[in-house]
Amino acid sequence: MIVEKFGRSYRGREIPWQLGSGKGRATLGLLDGKVAVITGIANKRSIAWGIARAFCREGAHLIVTYQNQRLKENLDKLLPELDTPVQSILLDVTDDQLMVKFAEQLQVLTPNGVNILIHSIAYAERADLEGRFLDTQRNGYMLAQEVSAYSLTELTRAVYPSMQRAGGGSIVAMTYQGSTRVMPNYNVMGVAKAALESSVRYLAFDLGTEHIRVNAISAGPVKTLAASGVKGISQALHSMVERAPIPENISTDDVGNAAVFLASDWAKHITGHILFVDSGSHIMGF
Ligand SMILES: NC(=O)c1ccc[n+]([C@@H]2O[C@H](COP(=O)([O-])OP(=O)(O)OC[C@H]3O[C@@H](n4cnc5c(N)ncnc54)[C@H](O)[C@@H]3O)[C@@H](O)[C@H]2O)c1
Repeated sequence: MIVEKFGRSYRGREIPWQLGSGKGRATLGLLDGKVAVITGIANKRSIAWGIARAFCREGAHLIVTYQNQRLKENLDKLLPELDTPVQSILLDVTDDQLMVKFAEQLQVLTPNGVNILIHSIAYAERADLEGRFLDTQRNGYMLAQEVSAYSLTELTRAVYPSMQRAGGGSIVAMTYQGSTRVMPNYNVMGVAKAALESSVRYLAFDLGTEHIRVNAISAGPVKTLAASGVKGISQALHSMVERAPIPENISTDDVGNAAVFLASDWAKHITGHILFVDSGSHIMGF
């Protein structure tokens, strides 16, 4: 790779420019020098993995979290694919002690603070992702809310001191259109996503004066581990190609690229927003 200094400055810093394809086209990583915490990488199909790849390409330093030891093994196989060293931290959002430890580890690992947090976490019992929403029981309802919605607020609180140290930041959560429209079988997760999206707006209000922005990406269906728990995911993928203005399914790279924008300084006055990455399907009436 050819790296050359052009003596241009970006926010007062000299930056190295990489020459693209030897034809003199200079490119700068949009997240150059930023520190990003990414949750929710379970395997190579995960939306969070698409985001990690895009962030790495754009020059961010990554810290990733994993839910348990089994998923750490997946991570250990994936991370060498990234062109940069990555720190990893154990974090199950239902475990208060791990949350405290996570916040402490962040303080140690990032003396200059954290600029970006990606919330890409959701869970509901399989039984609550089929049949009638009417039959949802209290335990399943509470679990889906705790893991898929409340965890955003808790994680934000844990990362907040590090973002203050960095002088601001960008938080991006992953949501789905089942929050505002009925998607058969999405049920309890639709209600959790509605709470998540509302949390995005309240957090954006709380943190705006500190230049911490909070947004969400509403992604179209992608065949991931979490999605395989929703009965009818194949039908959702099929119907998107049939009905969306752009008759194509999206990829995790598409979500990664949108997350780069929201995390970058180009989005510095965008907060409390839900950005659709769904080939436009949300505009359709039927
Ligand atoms: N796949 C889709 O069609 C789709 C569409 C829109 C939004 N989303 C959202 O994207 C996000 C990521 O999901 P995905 O589709 O990439 O699936 P995924 O299974 O790859 O990722 C889900 C992640 O949630 C993590 N998680 C679950 N419970 C946890 C806990 N208690 N503590 C910590 N982490 C926990 C898992 O470890 C996993 O990494 C979710 O919020 C999901 O709702 C997915």
